[in-house]
Amino acid sequence: MAKHILIVGSGSVGKRHAANLAALGCTISAMDPHPRRISEMAAETEVVGAFDSIAEALHVEKTFDGVVIASPPKFHVDQAIEALQAGIPVLLEKPVSPDLEAAERLASVVKSTGVPLLLGYTWRWWPPLNQVRSMLADDAIGTLRHVRFVMSAHLADWHPWENVQDWFMASRDLGGGALLDESHWVDLALWLFGSPKSVIARIEKISDLQVETDDNVDMMLVYENGLRVSIHLDLYGRPHQKTIRFSGEGGTILWTDSPNRVSISHDATPGEDGWQETDYTCERNEMFVEVAKEFLGVVDGAAVNSCTISDGVGVLEVLEAARRSSTEDRTVEMSPV
Ligand SMILES: NC(=O)c1ccc[n+]([C@@H]2O[C@H](COP(=O)([O-])OP(=O)(O)OC[C@H]3O[C@@H](n4cnc5c(N)ncnc54)[C@H](O)[C@@H]3O)[C@@H](O)[C@H]2O)c1
Repeated sequence: MAKHILIVGSGSVGKRHAANLAALGCTISAMDPHPRRISEMAAETEVVGAFDSIAEALHVEKTFDGVVIASPPKFHVDQAIEALQAGIPVLLEKPVSPDLEAAERLASVVKSTGVPLLLGYTWRWWPPLNQVRSMLADDAIGTLRHVRFVMSAHLADWHPWENVQDWFMASRDLGGGALLDESHWVDLALWLFGSPKSVIARIEKISDLQVETDDNVDMMLVYENGLRVSIHLDLYGRPHQKTIRFSGEGGTILWTDSPNRVSISHDATPGEDGWQETDYTCERNEMFVEVAKEFLGVVDGAAVNSCTISDGVGVLEVLEAARRSSTEDRTVEMSPV
């Protein structure tokens, strides 16, 4: 029988999950406090039930096999807890929550209910980044010394159908801003290298964007083994850039989102053939399809593999340390794990 999935939050990513899960054979219902959003979803994907609160959805329809939470971050934890307490597996969009305390509360509910939760830091499912991860594990560039993440993209280009001011990204209360929304890149640093020893950060609002949230983050993660990871996030850059440069003593690996490529060189001054380049043809939606497939496996009883609630709590520990570093203008030591 088709699995019945409730999508909570029928905005941009909610519609994407709905379409992907429907293509994988699921029946879709939707919850959103703004009925227009559900009508927009229904124009693309068949929606059998429409609700304006998760409590109503769970009360009326007792047969959901899974719940996808794609609302603004402020609502993630309480909504995930409602689903878990009803015994329904959850796919939760990132970040877990705007703050660490709420994320820890959710982690304890995942533990006490034993109901699974898969977290959607979707770049973990991106084939080129998995390739880089295995190259690093194979010591392809010798001892790694420095990594530089850059994510720069003007916010007005993300959702061209709405004003930036009307979107949760403009609101501190709803959980917008570069640090939280682009915590993808902190997650990838933890996925690749584990927890840092200390964090130094500046989190600021420096552009002309009409938002009350941060639009510029510069962070350095310092590791016990001497590795330095620098992360730059901004919401004003054009052309957009998503790149990671890994510098080892024996060479460099460069990942770029556009072009969709992984390059490696061991040369001091690489000429035309000095970089070995691997080009990929995967498209952005494929990572969401892979997440959806893993989630349907979890609904069927498989373990949560790629991204767990503990991973999400780990990200928020770094974000809290970064906030403290920025406010107090100092290096913040992470507690040993
Ligand atoms: N994994 C990824 O790469 C990825 C990509 C995009 C967005 N996201 C995440 O997904 C979430 C939503 O982002 P978006 O870009 O789709 O935003 P969006 O504004 O397009 O959609 C959010 C939707 O939630 C609805 N909403 C508001 N309050 C709600 C509530 N209390 N309960 C349920 N729904 C409510 C809004 O009406 C809107 O339709 C965010 O946490 C964001 O970080 C993740």
